[in-house]
Amino acid sequence: MVNLNQLRRQIYQLKKERNAIILAHYYQRPEIQDAADLVGDSFALSLEAAQTDAEIIVFCGVRFMAETASILSPDKIVLLPDLEACCPMAEMAVAEDLVALKEKHPHAAVVSYVNTSAAVKAESDICCTSANALQVVESLPHQTIIFCPDRNMGRYVAARTKKEVILWDGYCATHDHLTAEDILAAKQRHPRAVVMVHPECRPEVTELADYILGTRGMLELVSQSSANAFIVGTEAGLSHALYKAEPEKTYIFPSSRLICPTMKLNALERVLEVLETLEPRITVPADIQRRARKALDKMLAVR
Ligand code: 13P
Ligand code: SF4
Repeated sequence: MVNLNQLRRQIYQLKKERNAIILAHYYQRPEIQDAADLVGDSFALSLEAAQTDAEIIVFCGVRFMAETASILSPDKIVLLPDLEACCPMAEMAVAEDLVALKEKHPHAAVVSYVNTSAAVKAESDICCTSANALQVVESLPHQTIIFCPDRNMGRYVAARTKKEVILWDGYCATHDHLTAEDILAAKQRHPRAVVMVHPECRPEVTELADYILGTRGMLELVSQSSANAFIVGTEAGLSHALYKAEPEKTYIFPSSRLICPTMKLNALERVLEVLETLEPRITVPADIQRRARKALDKMLAVR
């Protein structure tokens, strides 16, 4: 049986030989985050996928993230350690249904959260992440926006813009599980803690928060804030990066259900295997890739 240090050494060696880069989302297992060249939020990972000189990208995240990397870098080999690692929310939006909704609202622009399939991105005017959703909506000349697929993030945006926002009925089960009672109970136990929650949480949860932030925003906040304790309303994988960034501070996850099961499917052993076999590869059909790329490039151009 190979031990962790051996595994890390083998991955490091093979990665260099193959000119590969390992990208990992903050929700990945700690040992995967530690083996990665870049750990980031969806936005930073998209940016790196578009800019890297590596020939091979091992994407430790879920399928839509690997697809995004392939859309942005179609000439590179993009590997996903576990093919079952998909985002259940991304699967709640089907391209044909989006086309039908666009026909009902011909003057609306479609803003798709990156948590969507390549086919849905191809039908969208622009993409967004949790870090720039409002900025993206405000960047458009349109007064009516179809926001797809996260109804919670759509409501978060709708409450902060004068535009009309048509919601899709999708949600992230991991964040949607979190209740106002969970937050209130955590606040009672830790009255001095700062409450930060992800915009994928329900409105009654975001209403109780001091800050509504994506994963990178949360990391920035803990580094900049003088507070010592934080109630964290997002997937528990972020705790690894939080403790690495500010080890002296305390992080309280208000529910034991803040685990995304598919994010946890990728295992370090599989990272080595995919580097050895260069399979499974994630590819996107050329026509969809071209159209989806426009929506992603537009997002990357919004500053
Ligand atoms: P961010 O890291 O962009 O906040 O994304 C959260 C998420 O749910 C990714 O699946
Ligand atoms: Fe999808 Fe939610 Fe898991 Fe992110 S945390 S991959 S949005 S199910």
